Amino acid sequence: MPQAVQGVIAPAKGAAVELTTIVVPDPGPGEAVVQVQACGVCHTDLHYREGGIGEDFPYLLGHEAAGVVEAVGDGVTEVVPGDFVILNWRAVCGQCRACRRGRPWYCFDTLNAAQPMTLEDGTQLSAALGIGAFAEKTLVHAGQCTKVDPAAPATAAGLLGCGVMAGLGAAVNTGGLSRGDSIAVIGCGGVGAAAIAGAHLAGAAKVIAVDIDARKLETARSLGATHTIDASSSDVVKEIKAATGGFGADVVVDAVGRPETYKQAFYARDLAGTVVLVGVPTPEMTLELPLQHVFGKGGSLKSSWYGDCLPSRDFPLLIDLYLQGRLPLDEFVSETIGIGDVEAAFDKMHSGDVLRSVVVL
Ligand SMILES: NC(=O)c1ccc[n+]([C@@H]2O[C@H](COP(=O)([O-])OP(=O)(O)OC[C@H]3O[C@@H](n4cnc5c(N)ncnc54)[C@H](O)[C@@H]3O)[C@@H](O)[C@H]2O)c1
Ligand SMILES: [Zn+2]
Ligand SMILES: [Zn+2]
Repeated sequence: MPQAVQGVIAPAKGAAVELTTIVVPDPGPGEAVVQVQACGVCHTDLHYREGGIGEDFPYLLGHEAAGVVEAVGDGVTEVVPGDFVILNWRAVCGQCRACRRGRPWYCFDTLNAAQPMTLEDGTQLSAALGIGAFAEKTLVHAGQCTKVDPAAPATAAGLLGCGVMAGLGAAVNTGGLSRGDSIAVIGCGGVGAAAIAGAHLAGAAKVIAVDIDARKLETARSLGATHTIDASSSDVVKEIKAATGGFGADVVVDAVGRPETYKQAFYARDLAGTVVLVGVPTPEMTLELPLQHVFGKGGSLKSSWYGDCLPSRDFPLLIDLYLQGRLPLDEFVSETIGIGDVEAAFDKMHSGDVLRSVVVL
């Protein structure tokens, strides 16, 4: 029997989100219905609402979640009802050209549920990143469910489903950061702060946090930043160079995703250093750089989709590190909120009041 549950939708470009009744079908072959326990509010949800990702309204928002598998469809072997899982937006297909070449973290044909969730009148919903977890229950592909140790609370575990994994992976997987390296992270919201925590975990020698908000810099310090730079009042490139013997950082992560922050990242790295763009730009943004500088600086300019993670490899590992006290996921949870409070959480994100608001169901 399809189930009617409460969910948060973005009805139209720029319009406030609404809590409404959605219909979740029974799981078909390869699918699972998950009872959502917690779902973080990520900046990407706001991008969806503002039409920055696509025009397939209405969107069912929420994509950074953990919960318990309620039911599975035919042929599902990955999980069984009762499993505690983190939802991922990289259920790898095993068949595409990336998967076949042994690079499944780039999978170009990731799996989502085949059936749509709908409004009560039958209108099909587009689930944000194929998840849609600001909802009491959601329908996903079973491969989107990654089983982890249930000793971790859902509020912390869910964060690995997007922002924390994206930021930590941007530094460690995409940036290839290792012991003794220097890193600067521009923008220390949920994603950038996770890059800081990841850099600390990886043994970086210098971890430079950059933000326009002093509160974010304070949190970055507690997560392992060795230097902080207030971008609202200082020359970011100059300060990063000053903190790295005049040379620039080995890796600079842009966790904002604007032309001006990208240029800062580009010029604040050492020769042969790496820029990692993890912040998501919007369609009107363009970038102009002297080609000679692109050549002269050398190194690599990379983008990081979901921290180049492989959920089956990374989620259980990072949950284990959390349970050992080595990855302070709880510090990312600024507040827990109800499912009706997502719009207010967007306001708090804008005003910089939170690292993560987490909806608890
Ligand atoms: N690539 C991916 O796979 C992926 C995954 C999740 C999120 N994201 C993207 O990452 C970005 C960050 O997400 P978030 O949830 O951390 O957002 P957030 O709003 O919590 O954090 C953004 C931070 O950037 C700071 N900031 C804004 N302008 C700045 C500037 N000019 N200089 C320095 N700091 C500045 C803000 O003060 C804030 O602390 C978003 O664009 C989001 O869509 C990407
Ligand atoms: Zn694939
Ligand atoms: Zn996200």
